[in-house]
Amino acid sequence: MKKGEKILFGVVGFLVIITVVNFTVLETIRHQSDKPMFPILTHFVFSEDGKKGYEIYQHGGCYTCHRAVGSGTSMGVSLDGLGSKHDVNYFYRFLKNPEITYGAKTLDHGSKPKDAAYVMELPDADLHLVAVFLSELKAESGSSSAFEPPQGESGFIDAMLDMWAPDGWRTQFKDIRGWMKTKSNEVGHDSGAK
Ligand code: HEC
Repeated sequence: MKKGEKILFGVVGFLVIITVVNFTVLETIRHQSDKPMFPILTHFVFSEDGKKGYEIYQHGGCYTCHRAVGSGTSMGVSLDGLGSKHDVNYFYRFLKNPEITYGAKTLDHGSKPKDAAYVMELPDADLHLVAVFLSELKAESGSSSAFEPPQGESGFIDAMLDMWAPDGWRTQFKDIRGWMKTKSNEVGHDSGAK
Protein backbone atom coordinates (compact mmCIF):
# COMPACT_ATOMS: atom_id res chain seq x y z
CA MET A 1 0.00 0.00 0.00
CA LYS A 2 1.10 3.53 -0.73
CA LYS A 3 1.47 5.97 2.14
CA GLY A 4 -1.56 7.98 0.96
CA GLU A 5 -3.69 4.85 0.88
CA LYS A 6 -2.63 3.91 4.40
CA ILE A 7 -3.62 7.36 5.69
CA LEU A 8 -6.93 7.25 3.81
CA PHE A 9 -7.88 3.76 5.02
CA GLY A 10 -6.67 4.67 8.50
CA VAL A 11 -8.92 7.73 8.67
CA VAL A 12 -11.94 5.87 7.27
CA GLY A 13 -11.36 2.94 9.64
CA PHE A 14 -11.09 5.33 12.58
CA LEU A 15 -14.40 6.99 11.65
CA VAL A 16 -16.12 3.61 11.30
CA ILE A 17 -14.89 2.55 14.76
CA ILE A 18 -16.12 5.84 16.32
CA THR A 19 -19.51 5.42 14.65
CA VAL A 20 -19.92 1.84 15.84
CA VAL A 21 -18.85 2.73 19.41
CA ASN A 22 -21.22 5.75 19.50
CA PHE A 23 -24.09 3.69 18.19
CA THR A 24 -23.49 0.91 20.70
CA VAL A 25 -23.22 3.30 23.66
CA LEU A 26 -26.36 5.24 22.67
CA GLU A 27 -28.37 2.09 22.07
CA THR A 28 -27.28 0.67 25.44
CA ILE A 29 -28.30 3.88 27.24
CA ARG A 30 -31.58 3.92 25.38
CA HIS A 31 -32.47 0.38 26.41
CA GLN A 32 -31.41 0.83 30.02
CA SER A 33 -33.77 3.69 30.75
CA ASP A 34 -37.55 3.85 30.31
CA LYS A 35 -37.45 7.60 29.90
CA PRO A 36 -37.23 8.95 26.35
CA MET A 37 -33.88 10.64 25.61
CA PHE A 38 -35.68 13.92 25.04
CA PRO A 39 -39.32 14.90 25.52
CA ILE A 40 -41.53 14.51 22.46
CA LEU A 41 -43.28 17.83 22.06
CA THR A 42 -44.73 17.51 18.59
CA HIS A 43 -48.13 15.85 18.36
CA PHE A 44 -50.52 15.63 15.47
CA VAL A 45 -54.02 14.97 16.70
CA PHE A 46 -56.80 15.59 14.22
CA SER A 47 -60.59 15.64 14.48
CA GLU A 48 -62.66 13.99 11.74
CA ASP A 49 -62.96 17.31 9.88
CA GLY A 50 -59.26 17.93 10.43
CA LYS A 51 -58.45 14.61 8.74
CA LYS A 52 -60.64 15.50 5.75
CA GLY A 53 -58.91 18.86 5.58
CA TYR A 54 -55.54 17.10 5.64
CA GLU A 55 -56.57 15.02 2.62
CA ILE A 56 -57.60 18.12 0.70
CA TYR A 57 -54.33 19.70 1.74
CA GLN A 58 -52.37 16.67 0.53
CA HIS A 59 -54.09 16.56 -2.85
CA GLY A 60 -54.30 20.32 -3.22
CA GLY A 61 -50.70 20.97 -4.18
CA CYS A 62 -49.97 22.78 -0.92
CA TYR A 63 -46.90 20.59 -0.40
CA THR A 64 -45.21 22.29 -3.32
CA CYS A 65 -44.65 25.32 -1.15
CA HIS A 66 -45.43 24.29 2.40
CA ARG A 67 -44.34 22.00 5.16
CA ALA A 68 -46.92 20.42 7.48
CA VAL A 69 -47.19 17.30 9.67
CA GLY A 70 -43.43 17.12 9.47
CA SER A 71 -43.13 16.79 5.72
CA GLY A 72 -43.24 18.89 2.60
CA THR A 73 -40.82 21.46 1.29
CA SER A 74 -38.78 23.74 3.45
CA MET A 75 -38.61 26.41 0.77
CA GLY A 76 -41.65 28.32 1.90
CA VAL A 77 -43.74 28.81 4.97
CA SER A 78 -43.89 25.96 7.47
CA LEU A 79 -47.45 25.48 8.70
CA ASP A 80 -46.66 23.22 11.66
CA GLY A 81 -47.47 24.95 14.92
CA LEU A 82 -49.53 27.69 13.24
CA GLY A 83 -52.64 26.30 14.93
CA SER A 84 -51.26 27.55 18.23
CA LYS A 85 -51.10 31.04 16.79
CA HIS A 86 -54.33 31.43 14.83
CA ASP A 87 -57.82 29.95 14.94
CA VAL A 88 -60.11 28.38 12.30
CA ASN A 89 -61.67 31.70 11.35
CA TYR A 90 -58.32 33.28 10.67
CA PHE A 91 -57.26 30.42 8.40
CA TYR A 92 -60.53 30.46 6.51
CA ARG A 93 -60.29 34.22 6.02
CA PHE A 94 -56.67 33.95 4.95
CA LEU A 95 -57.35 31.23 2.37
CA LYS A 96 -60.33 33.17 1.00
CA ASN A 97 -58.94 36.72 1.15
CA PRO A 98 -55.19 36.51 1.70
CA GLU A 99 -54.22 40.15 1.24
CA ILE A 100 -57.10 41.58 3.28
CA THR A 101 -56.34 39.13 6.10
CA TYR A 102 -52.60 39.82 5.99
CA GLY A 103 -53.13 43.54 5.60
CA ALA A 104 -50.18 43.44 3.23
CA LYS A 105 -49.16 42.35 -0.24
CA THR A 106 -48.74 38.60 -0.63
CA LEU A 107 -46.38 36.66 -2.86
CA ASP A 108 -48.28 33.57 -3.91
CA HIS A 109 -51.75 33.56 -2.36
CA GLY A 110 -54.26 35.96 -3.90
CA SER A 111 -55.84 36.47 -7.26
CA LYS A 112 -54.43 35.34 -10.60
CA PRO A 113 -51.74 35.23 -11.92
CA LYS A 114 -50.23 34.43 -8.52
CA ASP A 115 -49.03 30.83 -8.21
CA ALA A 116 -51.40 29.88 -5.39
CA ALA A 117 -54.39 31.78 -6.80
CA TYR A 118 -56.28 28.50 -7.21
CA VAL A 119 -56.49 28.19 -3.43
CA MET A 120 -59.03 30.99 -2.96
CA GLU A 121 -61.15 29.46 -5.70
CA LEU A 122 -61.52 26.07 -3.98
CA PRO A 123 -65.08 25.22 -2.87
CA ASP A 124 -66.04 26.92 0.42
CA ALA A 125 -66.66 23.59 2.16
CA ASP A 126 -63.13 22.43 1.26
CA LEU A 127 -61.56 25.67 2.45
CA HIS A 128 -63.39 25.28 5.73
CA LEU A 129 -62.08 21.72 6.22
CA VAL A 130 -58.55 22.85 5.35
CA ALA A 131 -58.92 25.67 7.90
CA VAL A 132 -59.92 23.13 10.55
CA PHE A 133 -56.87 21.03 9.65
CA LEU A 134 -54.56 24.06 9.88
CA SER A 135 -56.01 25.08 13.25
CA GLU A 136 -55.15 21.63 14.58
CA LEU A 137 -51.46 21.94 13.72
CA LYS A 138 -50.63 22.75 17.33
CA ALA A 139 -47.18 23.08 18.80
CA GLU A 140 -46.22 22.76 22.44
CA SER A 141 -43.86 25.49 23.51
CA GLY A 142 -40.30 24.31 23.16
CA SER A 143 -41.03 21.99 20.22
CA SER A 144 -39.24 22.63 16.96
CA SER A 145 -42.37 24.06 15.37
CA ALA A 146 -43.35 26.30 18.28
CA PHE A 147 -43.19 30.04 18.06
CA GLU A 148 -42.30 30.39 21.73
CA PRO A 149 -39.16 29.23 23.53
CA PRO A 150 -39.47 26.40 26.07
CA GLN A 151 -41.03 27.34 29.40
CA GLY A 152 -38.86 28.00 32.40
CA GLU A 153 -35.11 27.90 32.83
CA SER A 154 -32.94 26.32 30.20
CA GLY A 155 -29.22 25.89 30.78
CA PHE A 156 -28.79 25.12 27.10
CA ILE A 157 -30.36 28.39 25.92
CA ASP A 158 -28.38 30.35 28.52
CA ALA A 159 -25.15 28.74 27.34
CA MET A 160 -26.00 29.45 23.69
CA LEU A 161 -26.78 33.08 24.49
CA ASP A 162 -23.52 33.47 26.38
CA MET A 163 -21.60 31.96 23.52
CA TRP A 164 -23.26 33.55 20.50
CA ALA A 165 -25.37 36.59 21.34
CA PRO A 166 -23.60 39.95 20.95
CA ASP A 167 -23.33 41.84 24.27
CA GLY A 168 -25.60 44.63 23.07
CA TRP A 169 -28.52 42.22 22.73
CA ARG A 170 -29.02 41.94 26.45
CA THR A 171 -29.77 45.61 26.79
CA GLN A 172 -31.48 45.93 23.43
CA PHE A 173 -33.85 42.95 23.64
CA LYS A 174 -36.02 41.49 26.35
CA ASP A 175 -35.69 37.88 27.46
CA ILE A 176 -39.29 36.74 27.02
CA ARG A 177 -38.90 33.48 28.93
CA GLY A 178 -39.73 35.11 32.26
CA TRP A 179 -42.51 37.05 30.61
CA MET A 180 -43.98 33.84 29.21
CA LYS A 181 -44.29 32.31 32.64
CA THR A 182 -46.66 35.05 33.73
CA LYS A 183 -48.40 35.18 30.40
CA SER A 184 -48.50 31.48 29.58
CA ASN A 185 -52.27 31.27 29.93
CA GLU A 186 -52.84 33.90 27.32
CA VAL A 187 -50.20 32.87 24.79
CA GLY A 188 -51.53 31.05 21.79
CA HIS A 189 -55.04 32.44 21.85
CA ASP A 190 -55.26 34.73 18.90
CA SER A 191 -58.65 35.88 17.83
CA GLY A 192 -57.14 36.26 14.39
CA ALA A 193 -58.10 39.90 14.20
CA LYS A 194 -55.73 41.96 12.13
C1 HEC B 1 -46.98 28.59 -5.00
C2 HEC B 1 -46.66 28.36 -3.60
C3 HEC B 1 -47.80 28.12 -2.63
C4 HEC B 1 -48.82 27.18 -2.72
C5 HEC B 1 -49.10 26.20 -3.85
C6 HEC B 1 -49.59 27.32 -1.50
N1 HEC B 1 -49.04 28.29 -0.70
FE1 HEC B 1 -49.72 28.87 1.14
N2 HEC B 1 -48.30 30.34 1.22
C7 HEC B 1 -47.35 30.58 0.27
C8 HEC B 1 -46.63 31.80 0.61
C9 HEC B 1 -45.50 32.41 -0.18
C10 HEC B 1 -47.24 32.29 1.79
C11 HEC B 1 -46.96 33.62 2.50
C12 HEC B 1 -48.04 34.58 2.03
C13 HEC B 1 -47.84 34.99 0.59
O1 HEC B 1 -46.95 35.80 0.34
O2 HEC B 1 -48.59 34.50 -0.30
C14 HEC B 1 -48.27 31.35 2.16
C15 HEC B 1 -49.05 31.45 3.29
C16 HEC B 1 -49.96 30.51 3.70
C17 HEC B 1 -50.66 30.53 4.96
C18 HEC B 1 -50.58 31.61 6.02
C19 HEC B 1 -49.42 31.40 6.93
C20 HEC B 1 -49.36 32.47 7.99
O3 HEC B 1 -48.37 32.48 8.70
O4 HEC B 1 -50.28 33.28 8.13
C21 HEC B 1 -51.48 29.45 4.98
C22 HEC B 1 -52.41 29.04 6.10
C23 HEC B 1 -51.29 28.73 3.74
N3 HEC B 1 -50.36 29.40 2.99
C24 HEC B 1 -51.96 27.57 3.38
C25 HEC B 1 -51.90 26.99 2.11
C26 HEC B 1 -52.74 25.88 1.69
C27 HEC B 1 -53.78 25.19 2.57
C28 HEC B 1 -52.40 25.60 0.39
C29 HEC B 1 -52.99 24.55 -0.52
C30 HEC B 1 -54.44 24.53 -0.70
C31 HEC B 1 -51.32 26.52 0.02
N4 HEC B 1 -51.07 27.34 1.09
C32 HEC B 1 -50.68 26.53 -1.21
C33 HEC B 1 -47.11 29.81 -0.86
C34 HEC B 1 -47.95 28.81 -1.35
